[in-house]
Amino acid sequence: MKIYQHEKIITFNISAMKKILVIGASGQIGTDLTIELRNRFGNQNVIASDLRNASDEVMKSGVFEILNVLDKDGVKDIIERHNITEIYHLAAILSGNAEKEPAKSWDINMQGLFNILELAKELKLNKIFWPSSIAVFGPSTAKTNTPQFDIMDPNTVYGISKLAGERWCEYFFEKYGVDVRGLRYPGLISYKAEAGGGTTDYAVEIYYEAIKNKKYECFLSENTALPMMFMEDAIDATIGIMEADIEKVKIRSSYNLAGISFDPKTIAESIKKHIPEFEITYKPDFRQAIAESWPQSINDSVANKDWGWKHKYDLDKMTELMLREVGKKLSK
Ligand code: NAD
Ligand code: SER
Repeated sequence: MKIYQHEKIITFNISAMKKILVIGASGQIGTDLTIELRNRFGNQNVIASDLRNASDEVMKSGVFEILNVLDKDGVKDIIERHNITEIYHLAAILSGNAEKEPAKSWDINMQGLFNILELAKELKLNKIFWPSSIAVFGPSTAKTNTPQFDIMDPNTVYGISKLAGERWCEYFFEKYGVDVRGLRYPGLISYKAEAGGGTTDYAVEIYYEAIKNKKYECFLSENTALPMMFMEDAIDATIGIMEADIEKVKIRSSYNLAGISFDPKTIAESIKKHIPEFEITYKPDFRQAIAESWPQSINDSVANKDWGWKHKYDLDKMTELMLREVGKKLSK
């Protein structure tokens, strides 16, 4: 009994010390990540924030703050008011949208990150998570099984900002000891929130259209393979690297992260196993060139070796789950 009481006190103290701020909580990743963080660390210990309101689930399960990451004083005020110890900084403009507004996207992606790194240094925050992307790679990078270290010559607004961001993260760790941890997410596939304007969005849209209309016109060509991942795996990796012992996190720019690699034709075949009449057609747009500049598959053996990362979902397992969950959502 005594031991039980002692354990309870320790658990309470640990959660009281950890106070998380999620910036970009209304987006595709933030919607899932905020809920999982609240499940693991307590609703009261995870503050959600964004420029716009979040999903009902996020809004109702804990505190939500309207926040613009470009307003450094506003972010500082929220950190101090809530005694924040860790930040997951997700706010950014993704690859497709960034090509339409380069200056604005550079500002949000770079100045936003810079504000968070500066505040982490100034306020001595415990940890920062910041996501990079497969977009840091470019036309000269190895196309398949891309290693952690390779030529990096991104040719998109988004990719340039992610590569610069990686360098700043490593710089703040080396110069100022800011404990910043990052992952190069592949294209992420989920059913709770819409995808946010990226090149990999087709792999989310296709499930909605398959259920609604039994057909989908894809903005990438049929053989354009890209690295992808189901959201549950991405959330596990995100919390996994943040909870890893500090000495295990040896790379401070960002780790390669791999899940599944497929092209539009292959995901369509996976859907046809459940909806045989489903038809896909192809009408590549400006995002085709972006996709062609990125790797087709990623080698994440360094993340596996350093902090034990391993993905769980394959394409067919993901398709089954996506069709079930999107189906439920659309029938409400
Ligand atoms: P998203 O576009 O769905 O969400 C981003 C959120 O940031 C939005 O809710 C938006 O309102 C918010 N935001 C934009 N500007 C802001 C500002 N000035 N202040 C506060 N909030 C602001 O994007 P996502 O897919 O959830 O991506 C999150 C992060 O992960 C981004 O850094 C993105 O580059 C990275 N990433 C995503 C993917 C993916 O496939 N989803 C892949 C690689 C990397
Ligand atoms: N899914 C993202 C995008 O397409 C990759 O970072 O922009």
